[in-house]
Amino acid sequence: MALAVREILGSLADEERRQIVYDGDLLVFKAVSPMREFCAFTDALIRESLDTGDPVRAQFEMDRDDYLARIETLQKRFREHEDAKRLFLAALESTGVDLGRICWDWLYLRVLPSGEEYASGRAAKLGHHRDTWSSNVYSQTNWWAPIYPITAGRTLAFYPDYWSRPLNNTSGVWDLEEVRVRRRAGEPVALVPEPEEPVDTASELRPVISPGDLLCFSGAHLHASVPNATGIARFSVEARTVDTGDAALNVGAPNVDGASPRVALNWFREVRGGASLAEAADPRET
Ligand SMILES: [Fe+2]
Repeated sequence: MALAVREILGSLADEERRQIVYDGDLLVFKAVSPMREFCAFTDALIRESLDTGDPVRAQFEMDRDDYLARIETLQKRFREHEDAKRLFLAALESTGVDLGRICWDWLYLRVLPSGEEYASGRAAKLGHHRDTWSSNVYSQTNWWAPIYPITAGRTLAFYPDYWSRPLNNTSGVWDLEEVRVRRRAGEPVALVPEPEEPVDTASELRPVISPGDLLCFSGAHLHASVPNATGIARFSVEARTVDTGDAALNVGAPNVDGASPRVALNWFREVRGGASLAEAADPRET
């Protein structure tokens, strides 16, 4: 099956969107109106936190450690900011998401500076992975948006061939609690499960969308950050949502190679109610 990138002007019915995502197509919601305010809000926070008039080149205005410390503070401020959440949820709602049906984990501001010297550590890019290798939640839907203009050298890459093709990976032995303990101890550790064989990149797809657009895709897609050598940092925002009803019924994308021993329902909380997905979608009650 050939997977597609579908551009949507306006909204989609919640159920239709879920089905498209579970079938593997990528959705780009164009010029989502609350995203204009969201990007302006985030831009202001970035400028203030980095103390710069040129956010995408700020890494060249200060030394690496100072830059990374400022990024860390920025990410924390962003994550805790009620306006960020409010505006992003308004954007989801305007694409047709029924906020009463979903759980999410958190809103994350990812910064991918340009250049090899940032290839490890906190601002490192994410390698090839499926989010479902770690969450094991096949109704998980990912949302992704750039704050500033991006190019094919500064975006996400997808590998549609692997939608239905297994890739050997470490999900069967990966454990988030162990990752946390080892990170606290300062040990090098993979933040997400990794492939255990070379990735065939023949089907690579690099969507280039505009600030104000929202990319929506299944957490079961194999994807990665494109290594950034453009001389301009990538600032993007991401969130993961799960439809509570679908999670309860085990409806979602196919699992072709995930082997995680447990389902991470407790990573997600209701947007409206606040209960964890583990409580909201307890399969024993369905
Ligand atoms: Fe991911």
